[in-house]
Amino acid sequence: MSTDATNNDSQGKLVCIFGAAGGVGASTVAANLAVSLQQGHSARSVAVVDTTLTGGDLPLMLGMALGAGLRALPTDPQRVDEALLMNAQATHRSGVQLLHLGQSSPLRPVAEPAVLVRTLELMARWHDWVVVDCGCATERVTHTVIPHASTMLLVATLALPAAQRAKQWVQWLIDTGVPSGKLVAVMNRCREDEAAYRRQLQSLLPCRVGAYLPDSPELARESLIEGVPLVATQPRSTLAHGYAELASSLSGQSMGASDRKAEGVFQRVHARFMGTRHAA
Ligand SMILES: Nc1ncnc2c1ncn2[C@@H]1O[C@H](COP(=O)(O)OP(=O)(O)OP(=O)(O)O)[C@@H](O)[C@H]1O
Ligand SMILES: [Mg+2]
Repeated sequence: MSTDATNNDSQGKLVCIFGAAGGVGASTVAANLAVSLQQGHSARSVAVVDTTLTGGDLPLMLGMALGAGLRALPTDPQRVDEALLMNAQATHRSGVQLLHLGQSSPLRPVAEPAVLVRTLELMARWHDWVVVDCGCATERVTHTVIPHASTMLLVATLALPAAQRAKQWVQWLIDTGVPSGKLVAVMNRCREDEAAYRRQLQSLLPCRVGAYLPDSPELARESLIEGVPLVATQPRSTLAHGYAELASSLSGQSMGASDRKAEGVFQRVHARFMGTRHAA
């Protein structure tokens, strides 16, 4: 799979999500973004891939059985085929397809890069959107998928050291040749008293900030306990709006033919979102 291939209109868009540090909310963003993309356009085919090989957190966040997924990950990319992946995918009630590469060992065996690339190549053939939870940016998987990503979402918080790491990761990615237009920072768990940090960060980060998501511990906890993403349980909450707007802004970056008729409407929503963001 080449970078061009994933940017081709006949291929689905690969949105890779990684955290600037552990525990900043990357998996929560992945689950909610996937469901939001599906809710925004029911005819779309959306998949979410959990690359974390310990079984992953996405089944928990989506309220799905751990049984789904690849229990035994092949080491030979030739053995990754349609039948294997189709059997391993499970359908969430939103319509999103979940694929996790989970194995039960907590020792974190690593997917062979070629196996992962082959998996994502096939997924991008079948789905309009493939949201990939890559875990923390330090994981090897992150660096395997970077060349194939249509968009990379770097999740961080305004708190140190995650904010400092976000800046370092963005700069490093740009220095290694990733176009800054492919990079979108998502600042999670923002509090109102951190407004000054937002302004500072905006001038320091050499990529756009796609969302400032509010810190909503109670809603996040309830959503985890229920195993239902917040965009489904609390669609009117500020946090769910943040996920939905992020999904809208990504859709607008890469509209397929079927979406073009909605372009005018989308542009108005997107403009409003960007206006809100800059005013924040
Ligand atoms: N906006 C938010 N407000 C409050 N809590 C949140 C928010 N986003 C995520 N959380 C909570 O933060 C915790 C960590 O989230 P999550 O598992 O998504 O992080 P992660 O970056 O994927 O972690 P890991 O590095 O372990 O993969 C969870 O308890 C989640 O409910
Ligand atoms: Mg995670």
